[in-house]
Amino acid sequence: MFRYLTSGESHGKQLSTIIEGLPAGLKITADKIDADLKRRQGGYGRGGRMLIESDSASIVSGVRHGSTLGSPVALIIENRDWENWLDAMDPAPRTGVDKKEVKRPRPGHADLTGAMKYGHSDIRNVLERSSARETAARVAVGAVAKGLLAEFGISIYSWVTEVGGEKANVKAKDCRSLHDLAERSVMRCPVGAATKRMTKLIDNAKAAGDSLGGSFEVVAVGVPPGLGSYVHWDRKLDALISMAIMSIQAIKGVEVGLGFDVASTPGSRVQDEIFYGKHIAEGSNAKAAFWPQESGFYRRTNGAGGIEGGMSNGAPIVIKAAMKPIPTLYKPLRSVDIDSKKAFKASVERSDCCAVPAASVIGEAVVAIELAGAFLDKFGGDSIVEIRRNYKAYLKAIASF
Ligand SMILES: Cc1cc2nc3c(=O)[nH]c(=O)nc-3n(C[C@H](O)[C@H](O)[C@H](O)COP(=O)(O)O)c2cc1C
Repeated sequence: MFRYLTSGESHGKQLSTIIEGLPAGLKITADKIDADLKRRQGGYGRGGRMLIESDSASIVSGVRHGSTLGSPVALIIENRDWENWLDAMDPAPRTGVDKKEVKRPRPGHADLTGAMKYGHSDIRNVLERSSARETAARVAVGAVAKGLLAEFGISIYSWVTEVGGEKANVKAKDCRSLHDLAERSVMRCPVGAATKRMTKLIDNAKAAGDSLGGSFEVVAVGVPPGLGSYVHWDRKLDALISMAIMSIQAIKGVEVGLGFDVASTPGSRVQDEIFYGKHIAEGSNAKAAFWPQESGFYRRTNGAGGIEGGMSNGAPIVIKAAMKPIPTLYKPLRSVDIDSKKAFKASVERSDCCAVPAASVIGEAVVAIELAGAFLDKFGGDSIVEIRRNYKAYLKAIASF
């Protein structure tokens, strides 16, 4: 079983994660992880913290000379700002120091309910963990998962499709090209004109003390048919991926394939008809690209987003997600002090104005983690060599199906 846990507070000493279930013989280096951590910190509209910190992962166990051992892998990411927060966040008891207590819950955050639920009189005890800082740890795990998937020809791509109502007219292209275009955009958006309009919107929102949300797509290409299962609700791949996406802070909607459009589209245009014979490899259309075998069963459309009956069907897995606007506003919203019960403007923590580009990178990570888990469930072995043997045998079996 592939699983992981993260720990760490936003201004604590470090984020930590332990990954269990990785096979022996997988190549892992910190620079690959750091590259994704850097991508998570980028994007137009981020706040001050991204300027003072540059995340870097240390691999502290489970890897020797660049290869996994089969034992749990532990990663840590230090919070570089930690020294400035030592008084407020020291795990050791402290008296007579500024604990940077927070008494004014921010609407849209875990602040108020978290304090009630855990009985905290200082909301900092909630916000330090509920913060999206935690996603740095998930991006690190995602980088490892991507490395595993890459061994088997599976790639994960993403791009931003909308910010604050400004939609990018993303023309069908192969996923790699769209992703490469997105990587060169400050909004991680493959359409240049839309990038410009999105940055302008962000400038306006910032000037008004407001914030913006948006949406993004994650696409996984090269996924074999048969990951996940139709037999139990909690093994359905679409359910697992949806949960992972929804668990990202501020994500409020997730779609697979046509998503909500299925409600208004006739069945004849929703289902993907089945063909048999020779066909092209990845296709020229990101939405209707095919399982990259040269012949066999294939589809000409991909309304299902690569998942039917809770299982990957061989077509690219297409996930869309909607992110709400960042809840901390520089023009603070109204709230109530938890001690005095008096009306106040909510606290302002250092904050982003728009973090949709970063969310798309986190989306890639959590999709990679779920796919790696499903892949290991199906083909798992103790070493990469053993998994490769299992995988080859399966591909041979389905090729002659
Ligand atoms: C990459 C990323 C960065 C974020 N940055 C901020 C931020 O700077 N300020 C803020 O108030 N919320 C930020 N959020 C959103 C909050 O973490 C989130 O809205 C909050 O934890 C409440 O969770 P919920 O929106 O899922 O209910 C960010 C989210 C993500 C994914």
